Amino acid sequence: MLKQKDYTAVFDASPDAMLVVDADGVIRDLNRQAVTMFGWSREELEGTEVERLIPAASRGEHRRHRRRYGEAPEPRPMGEGLELEALRKDGTTIPVEISLSPSQLSPGREHVICAVRDISPWRRMRRLSGMMVAAAEQERKHLSRELHDEFLQNLVALKIRVKLLADEKDDGERESARARIAEDIRGTIVGVKRMIRGLLPPELDHGGLSSALGSAFRDIEDVYGFTVHASMDRVGGELDEAATLALYRIVQEALGNAVRHAGVSEATVTFKSSNGTVTATIRDEGCGFELPDAERLPGDGCIGLAGMRERAALVGGTVVVQTSPGRGTTVQATVPVRSAGVPGGSKNR
Ligand SMILES: Nc1ncnc2c1ncn2[C@@H]1O[C@H](COP(=O)(O)OP(=O)(O)OP(=O)(O)O)[C@@H](O)[C@H]1O
Ligand SMILES: [Mg+2]
Repeated sequence: MLKQKDYTAVFDASPDAMLVVDADGVIRDLNRQAVTMFGWSREELEGTEVERLIPAASRGEHRRHRRRYGEAPEPRPMGEGLELEALRKDGTTIPVEISLSPSQLSPGREHVICAVRDISPWRRMRRLSGMMVAAAEQERKHLSRELHDEFLQNLVALKIRVKLLADEKDDGERESARARIAEDIRGTIVGVKRMIRGLLPPELDHGGLSSALGSAFRDIEDVYGFTVHASMDRVGGELDEAATLALYRIVQEALGNAVRHAGVSEATVTFKSSNGTVTATIRDEGCGFELPDAERLPGDGCIGLAGMRERAALVGGTVVVQTSPGRGTTVQATVPVRSAGVPGGSKNR
């Protein structure tokens, strides 16, 4: 049989913040996790109204709900279907889920035990997965536009030109038209190959990471006039498929950011292997930027930085970004040679 002090230990061991609130809404007891979550000391909270932990705008409504609950108390989640926020001592709010259980802790005195769970990690994951779905949809739109505007139009024009070629009487004209058509077909093939490389570089399967990145760097140079100085001799041979793809995508995104946002026309990419990990460092000397808090998600449409971190995390790696306005940007991605076992991870392209 547990003793009184054992129950206190159980109370304190709960991963949720626990509050014992009396019929007047006064906090009578709290556990260690509540002190950590809300930032107030035990002494500051004991004996105060529970509304202290609720954002000012919702306090009146909370008092009304609390009184109504007191008339017919029953175990249930609080504010089902609502996004509840709790107020911390420093004035910040956290998204929470709250369960209420009525209890007669001392004879004749009704109390409510409130278990408060911080759901910010879950909320963050939900937002991130929403953004990933939106990004995938955006990518499909982009591909369909590119296929339609670029390749389909080119092919239709080539078909018409081939038809006209058959009607051309002048041998010299016919020959130069044929040469122009051949040149345009070659250009279209180059474009299609570039697109395939952007989607899923075939070299990753055949020539490995350095060969695939070498082609990607040449494409960046051809399309944007942006030079990538790379040192990556024999890199990546030891990486497994999932880790290889993660690094490829991270380098691709970091360079894409340098091309689009840094305001410079060159960057360096270096690779280093040590202790069962491979680190890729992408550095530009451009404008840099104010780095958002790693836990905060960027605004709509900016999923690159968050995506890099997620990709690395999926194979047990990390991404560190160092930057500030005017000081360039360094992205450092480290992945283990054998990626952390993610179900289906190696096919997760
Ligand atoms: N190398 C860089 N130099 C300067 N600014 C950068 C650099 N990398 C990122 N940024 C800034 O950080 C923001 C967020 O980058 P992120 O990759 O998350 O989104 P994005 O590139 O704007 O959009 P997306 O990658 O989703 O297409 C960018 O909009 C840009 O302002
Ligand atoms: Mg980006």
